[in-house]
Amino acid sequence: MTAKDAALRTRLCEADQGHVFRFYDDLSAEQRTTLLAQLRSIDLALVKKLIDRHLAVETEPHTPKLAPAEVIPLAADAAGRAEAAASRKVGEEALRAGRLAVLVVAGGQATRLGYDAPKGCFPIGPVSGKSLFQVHAEKVLALSRRYGRAVPLLLLVSPDNHGPTRRFFEQHSYFGLPAADVTFFEQGMLPALDRDGRLLLAERGRIFLSPDGHGGVYRAAVRSGAVAALRKRGVDTLFYFQVDNPLVSVGDPVFIGHHLRQESEFSLKVVAKRDAAEKVGVFAQLDGRPGIVEYSDLSAELREARSPEGRLVYGAGSIAIHAFSLAFFERLGQGALELPYHFARKKVPYIDEAGDLVNPAEPNGVKFESFVFDGLALARRTMAMEVARDEEFAPVKNRTGEDSPESCRQAWSALHRRWLAAAGLRLRADAVAEVGPLLALDAEELAAKVAAGTIGRAWFDHA
Ligand code: UTP
Repeated sequence: MTAKDAALRTRLCEADQGHVFRFYDDLSAEQRTTLLAQLRSIDLALVKKLIDRHLAVETEPHTPKLAPAEVIPLAADAAGRAEAAASRKVGEEALRAGRLAVLVVAGGQATRLGYDAPKGCFPIGPVSGKSLFQVHAEKVLALSRRYGRAVPLLLLVSPDNHGPTRRFFEQHSYFGLPAADVTFFEQGMLPALDRDGRLLLAERGRIFLSPDGHGGVYRAAVRSGAVAALRKRGVDTLFYFQVDNPLVSVGDPVFIGHHLRQESEFSLKVVAKRDAAEKVGVFAQLDGRPGIVEYSDLSAELREARSPEGRLVYGAGSIAIHAFSLAFFERLGQGALELPYHFARKKVPYIDEAGDLVNPAEPNGVKFESFVFDGLALARRTMAMEVARDEEFAPVKNRTGEDSPESCRQAWSALHRRWLAAAGLRLRADAVAEVGPLLALDAEELAAKVAAGTIGRAWFDHA
């Protein structure tokens, strides 16, 4: 052990984490190197803070004071449509000026879906079987073609899925995007802790670490140099979404326009909750600041509360589609502002004192994550805009049932059937539809191409 490593060992022992060296003497040279590297990456001061905060929250949970937050409604009348048109113009100008980059968070573990490869590799196109990554990449490519400017694509990955994600893009020639315009950057990892605040060993020579949550995106984007590189090429706005929603309207100019016109630092799209019982985070004012209130933190009374027009008072469901100013990312990522950490009790398999692997029947560990939407409270200005769920949101979260590949493909096909019908193309009643992003990004583009004869019935029948 070098002097540096010995000092690391001392620091860990002083922090009551010396047990991680229990099997050190039996490890191979390679295993020792891995363990030491892992231990060096762990911020012991942060671990201490997480333990203290966790205990404080457990003994004295804070219930924020809630109030509804302002949302730009769906453009239902002439005034709303005029506003949307004005914003579209501003958004399109920003796209033409090369001010926009697209950021996809793809560092999660897809536990609920139970998929071994990165979630973005999951085949999802209802007709084509295209992967989530391909659909997103093609939208970015279509956007750059439409506005005549390259749109950089950034992907947040975890140390675990970085390699396979990068290889997937390489194998598919970046789905037509210039490789130089695609950036992968790694989020941080955090240890899980046992009831006594001690690190858990996943193997004799490996600490249990998991991704630090999508809130890790701010710091990772700054630390990796991705934000500085964007700044250099004239980007000042980020369009953000999660890898598992293939219906996302990437770079939506109306949304970007509203964001820019309102000089917002952090904007979000919301959909009307299906009903009071839908388990989704809701955009609201928490202790006087904008934020997302989780389903479990809303009392039954507030969940059911309705306005005189009959709408749910807390009904603005967040769909994790955001726009950010790059300056906000810089402020947060440089650590000038701090996000809170959320904790969850989980069953974490671990190596016990005898060196045996234990698969606990009950939660034995606490995992910590930060969430991107907690940045809302820290932004100087925010903007929320309502969109239609069936046009923009069909996430793939679970293996079956709600928010599954099947429900996603159904919503997708139904949407594109409506696009085709609006363009005057008829489909058999049982036909499944999928319009590729490079053919049309939205119903208007599809209708225009059909009207111009670029897409004819014969072409369509063979597509
Ligand atoms: P989810 O909370 O749905 O998590 O992430 P998940 O990992 O995809 O799935 P489960 O919970 O294990 O079943 C929402 C989005 O945030 C990203 C995910 O990749 C997904 O796009 N994410 C989540 C990260 O990028 N990093 C994280 O640490 C967590």
